[in-house]
Amino acid sequence: MSQPLPPILLVDDEKNMRLSLSAMLADDGYAVEAVESAEQGEQLIEKREFLMLITDAHLGGISGYELLARVRRRRPELPMLMITAYATPKLAAEAIKAGASDYLPKPFAPEELLLHVSRCAERHRLLMENAALREKVTSNYSLESIIGESPKMREQRDLIKTIAPTNASVLILGESGTGKELIAGALHSLSARAKKSYVRINCAAIAETLLESELFGHEKGAFTGAIKQKLGRVEEADGGTIFLDEIGDMSRSLQAKLLRFLEDGSFTRVGGNDELRVNVRLLAATNRDIIQAIRDNHFREDLYHRLNVVQFRPPPLRERGQDVCLLAEHFLRQFCGSLGKPVMTLAKPAAAKLLSHHWPGNVRELRNVIERAVILAPGPQVQPLHLPDFELETKLRKGDAPVGAVPDSLDEALSDFEKQLILAALERNHFSVNKTAERLKVTRHALRYRMQRLNISTDASPDGDTDVLEK
Ligand SMILES: Nc1ncnc2c1ncn2[C@@H]1O[C@H](COP(=O)(O)OP(=O)(O)OP(=O)(O)O)[C@@H](O)[C@H]1O
Ligand SMILES: [Mg+2]
Repeated sequence: MSQPLPPILLVDDEKNMRLSLSAMLADDGYAVEAVESAEQGEQLIEKREFLMLITDAHLGGISGYELLARVRRRRPELPMLMITAYATPKLAAEAIKAGASDYLPKPFAPEELLLHVSRCAERHRLLMENAALREKVTSNYSLESIIGESPKMREQRDLIKTIAPTNASVLILGESGTGKELIAGALHSLSARAKKSYVRINCAAIAETLLESELFGHEKGAFTGAIKQKLGRVEEADGGTIFLDEIGDMSRSLQAKLLRFLEDGSFTRVGGNDELRVNVRLLAATNRDIIQAIRDNHFREDLYHRLNVVQFRPPPLRERGQDVCLLAEHFLRQFCGSLGKPVMTLAKPAAAKLLSHHWPGNVRELRNVIERAVILAPGPQVQPLHLPDFELETKLRKGDAPVGAVPDSLDEALSDFEKQLILAALERNHFSVNKTAERLKVTRHALRYRMQRLNISTDASPDGDTDVLEK
């Protein structure tokens, strides 16, 4: 069932015109709200939603042109049609410049007007459909879909709950695959803007020259190929949220325009002169080292501070301890479900193998690994042989230090390093503490002591050897 259309706002100072146009539109099933002055029209637009505005050019007080320009600033999306008895090409151009979507010279046949109106009605229907689709998409984002019970992940979820209802700009920094998009989605879903648009733009995926027009729109003829006016995604996001992913890849000149947009929501379409304004909350993310980008002059420091009202730092997966297993089980349920298999479990040695890996691709990598395992494993359990040869991948990694991680202290860095070495050695020796101690040239007791200190716990496995599980 489609919803009833909002009414058409008709502004004309001639009573007869108001009556005849209203009757014509009503005959075709449209609701009409008719007023005699631009001032009255403007007031109504502030308060209510309309399908479109139809205005005469010459009115008693403020002219139709001025009305168009004012409404265009406040409601960039609203279709506006100007009608006038004094039609000249110059005036038509002026009307379009003031923001009219179209221009109709008097006298006109009723069908001409109705054609314009039906186009607006169609556009409205599409926008509504889009909004409904969007609602479905955004409802997938929730706090519960962010799996993890490690203290750092709990902290991230608590922060989402606190920050989501505010209008604060948010900067999400983290390695690739750490769940930055999930955080952004949850922030929108838990905000008062959840029913409005959630617009995502990947700044790295769009050519630098096109990004500005994608973001802020362009006027007809602004550049070769701009054959008609295009609304910016910020207009689509009005009232809602915009998520700029990979913001570290945005050019400096566009960064300046974004900064202005962040100050008060104002922007200008490419090739346009009018300053438009929307009400949009901005979320941004990058997996780049943003501080280094500022030092290298690739990223504006003022923009960084403006964006960085609240910062999220989803930790790399290797710092989340047992979350690796929780996530693996979550993905097992997901993939078994979608492949129609009974839910599989993770054999202990397989869990240990997952825990020993460094996860340079973070949760995304784990997701892929589990998807592969679900396809490969014939039985109800995932065994180490269904998992990739991480050792080989580890060797391919440059150095063994955590990539990009900024430890709080030297002690922490050394502990991380030591933990990774021990986990890697355990993996190579099939998680036998005896053999690993031998290879590392320490006593079994010394190795156990270190493992305890580093939160690598041990479990006796059925075959008498020792499994390792990280706490
Ligand atoms: N805590 C989590 N719980 C459940 N799924 C997660 C979690 N974190 C990430 N994922 C899943 O891992 C994949 C990668 O996450 P996401 O796309 O949010 O990463 P990202 O940080 O945006 O990465 P990139 O920098 O490469 O864009 C997605 O499929 C996402 O659903
Ligand atoms: Mg992402």
